[in-house]
Amino acid sequence: MEYRVTLLGSEQNAPTDSEKSFTVGPDQSLLEAALFQDIALPYGCQSGGCGACRAKLVAGQIHYSYDPPALSEEEKAQGYILLCQAQPRSDLSLQVEERLSSQAIPVRNMPVRVEHKQPLCHDVMQLMLKLPKGEVFEFLPGQYVDFLLRDGRRRSFSIANGPATKGVIELHIRHVPNGDFSDFVFSSMQDRVILRVEGPLGGFYLRPQSDHPILMMAGGTGLAPIKSMLEYMLDQGMHRETHLFWGVRGQRDLYLHETLLEWSQSLPWFDYTPVLSEPASGQPDASSWQGETGYVHEVVARRFPNMQDYDVYMSGPPVMVQAGRDQFLAQGLPVEQLFYDSFDYAFQTWPQQEAPDKHKPGG
Ligand code: FES
Repeated sequence: MEYRVTLLGSEQNAPTDSEKSFTVGPDQSLLEAALFQDIALPYGCQSGGCGACRAKLVAGQIHYSYDPPALSEEEKAQGYILLCQAQPRSDLSLQVEERLSSQAIPVRNMPVRVEHKQPLCHDVMQLMLKLPKGEVFEFLPGQYVDFLLRDGRRRSFSIANGPATKGVIELHIRHVPNGDFSDFVFSSMQDRVILRVEGPLGGFYLRPQSDHPILMMAGGTGLAPIKSMLEYMLDQGMHRETHLFWGVRGQRDLYLHETLLEWSQSLPWFDYTPVLSEPASGQPDASSWQGETGYVHEVVARRFPNMQDYDVYMSGPPVMVQAGRDQFLAQGLPVEQLFYDSFDYAFQTWPQQEAPDKHKPGG
């Protein structure tokens, strides 16, 4: 038995001029069936944890084999579902942002050469990957790539450069204690080594068609996809009011801080607020910090008590993303204006976290 799923377009743009439908079996996830039939829907982790595949159920019944963590009670009450986990129990109508055909970027599997690696701070390495000569790698600002390791495992990292930088992929890799891939990157990886990547992946990317001002919130290496978005905005001459809040533990974790300060001084539409959760971390004199302290989502919430008119982009540790989601929705942020990506390995910059067991971007 098969059910039919009809896509009605996104809430902001519905109905699409390319209304589509696809079929799905009762034991199949909606995402799996859509991708199998070449319908380009947004997704990320495919395990119910990141929220990138969120869609609104307009009509019909679905079933989950477990309660997926990436949806808040408020989102569920408003009819949102996760395409990677939902299985059909009837024909369905969904409001979902199918990537427009111009954005339906093919996922590539290709070799890359490590052009160089450079420490950005005490535990973050910048990797510059060179594509094979003549290769064009298209992606949306905010997406990520997977390294395909020899033993079949994958390691995911957000792309940190803007799409206009041709022929190169920039990544920010945090050193994870006992993380074999990041150990390799920090110790034995040589320049010019050849690795294999797959991408672009993920449904976390900048929506340039909106005219709302933007709030960006990053935790640790969650800065990488945000930097990609900012570089895209600079390249495109997009001057939408944008406020970036970046949460790290201590001053020594603020890599690329000078660049962000420079942008905030030279771009009238952009401001930047670093937030330290532990100002004394790695610092003999914590009083040298005069800026914001505490949890970054609380600083954002205090500075923007009414979020109704903003688009919010969050990337970083799951606990930051979840706390931000709950707080911002409670402060009037419409669900459809909230975009986020959870970095399971970025927890190193976030206090009181247990190590997660999967490897979304950052690990
Ligand atoms: Fe579905 Fe991440 S929650 S792709």
